[in-house]
Amino acid sequence: MEKADIIIIGSGIAALQLARRLQDHFYVMIITKDKIKSGNSYLAQGGIAAPLGLKDSVHAHFRDTLEAGRYHQDEDSVKRLIEDGKMIVESLLKDGAPFDRQKDGSLSLGMEGAHSEQRILHSGGDQTGKYLVEFLLKSLSGEKVEFVEGEMVYELVKDDKGRCCGVKTKNKDEAIRSYYAPHIVLATGGIGGLYPSTSNHPAVTGDGMALAFLAGAKLSDMEFIQFHPTLLWVNGRTCGLISEAVRGEGAILLNDEGKRIMEEVDPLLELAPRHVVAECIHKERQMGKSVYLDIRGIKDFQEKFPSISALCLKHQISIEDGMIPVSPGCHFVMGGIVTDDEGRTNIPGLYAIGEVACSGIHGANRLASNSLLEGLVYGERLGNLLIQKGAGCSPHVPVDDIKEGNSLHIPFHSDEIREGMMNRVGIIRHEEGLLAHLKWLKEQPLTFREHIDVNSREEIHTYFMWIVSLLVTQSALLRRESRGGHIRSDFPVEDHDEWFKRKTVLQNNDGRLRVEYHEQNETKIYA
Ligand code: SIN
Repeated sequence: MEKADIIIIGSGIAALQLARRLQDHFYVMIITKDKIKSGNSYLAQGGIAAPLGLKDSVHAHFRDTLEAGRYHQDEDSVKRLIEDGKMIVESLLKDGAPFDRQKDGSLSLGMEGAHSEQRILHSGGDQTGKYLVEFLLKSLSGEKVEFVEGEMVYELVKDDKGRCCGVKTKNKDEAIRSYYAPHIVLATGGIGGLYPSTSNHPAVTGDGMALAFLAGAKLSDMEFIQFHPTLLWVNGRTCGLISEAVRGEGAILLNDEGKRIMEEVDPLLELAPRHVVAECIHKERQMGKSVYLDIRGIKDFQEKFPSISALCLKHQISIEDGMIPVSPGCHFVMGGIVTDDEGRTNIPGLYAIGEVACSGIHGANRLASNSLLEGLVYGERLGNLLIQKGAGCSPHVPVDDIKEGNSLHIPFHSDEIREGMMNRVGIIRHEEGLLAHLKWLKEQPLTFREHIDVNSREEIHTYFMWIVSLLVTQSALLRRESRGGHIRSDFPVEDHDEWFKRKTVLQNNDGRLRVEYHEQNETKIYA
């Protein structure tokens, strides 16, 4: 058994920013199921949105964020995100963070969809995540930050008062270990790996959400899933992201008849909000047409986008010909573990930051490049909160009990969940498909169990995917309207009367799924 002051699960931008803030005060342990650099943050191409341009303002960024999120957000939280985000980015710049600059030394600010100003900071062209992760890692002294790689957290441990005080892990050889701390932070990212087409690292399958749910945390907004419009499409599958920054530089979307497909869809054309562009490409492809990103108008493409050029080269797509085949794929989940503005969940001792959390800032659809910003802001804020609180007393550690015989029987392969999610809970949903997927999920011989010591890592992964799939499907079925990343062909418009600002909140209530609707100042129990 090992102890720390703070345990962080996950190693993306939010986790590293938190560790950087805490390292002079506490002994911090970062646990990750793969390698430190295997995750979504490291893959991020597009950058960090911040209102730093001469003509830009906090208000303009705030307005764009609300519009993209279809006003489903908590407006005060959005305002704080952008105000604090601007300050944190400025302080990173002072500390020497490697953001790209113009020849005259001024910041190079890119454009992305649904932004009214150029405000995207980027590094190494399209390698922002990689550069930022390396920068944050270098700033960790190593003395008080320990990395535990290759261990998957499969259980959150609570003490007899219900406070989260530790985790149980399995390494690649299935050996079990326990770690304890007064504060446990989930920073495990999203759920892209629940879909066969995704921009996410394949290991990102919603573990943090499943762990929190089993422990009794509340989750909300799980129906809102952002599909990135342009993933590279080769040999019948998606194989990596083509950043929205490419469209920001002037690339246009054509079908195989040469028609500019966004022309009759949205006045913002290729830079319309992501759900609009993704839906349009999806519909073209459903009609049997191929869709291409025409980059022929972009000068110095390889210099501006080195990692996208390398990706295309790897898959034998010619940059010189300038037509990149694309298809949408799951990119980001707006919902997650309900937290306040500091990252606290409803379980004492348990916190959530970054994509795994739902703090009310993204609403029904996240504005491009607001997620690295979120990681930085919530990492910093939770750091401040924990420093203020102090490490707290050493946790009251329950006896290490490995519960033999508590085994789950999983009679399906995780690919069956992925196919069901793509076909029935994908870009465009309808009641029939959602009900069919929910029925399939409910027919499986699985229940909500906190103790699963006996199963293998792979089985636990699949079990966690089953839980998250259930939460997304249930939430998508309940929301009988279309809004942002939730598009229903049977309820194709936003319903301002019944669904405006209404959130579906899910919780494990002693093995049963409890559903609440949270309205402005009211909570209704649905089931
Ligand atoms: C992109 O580069 O297109 C993704 C950026 C983001 O999702 O914020």
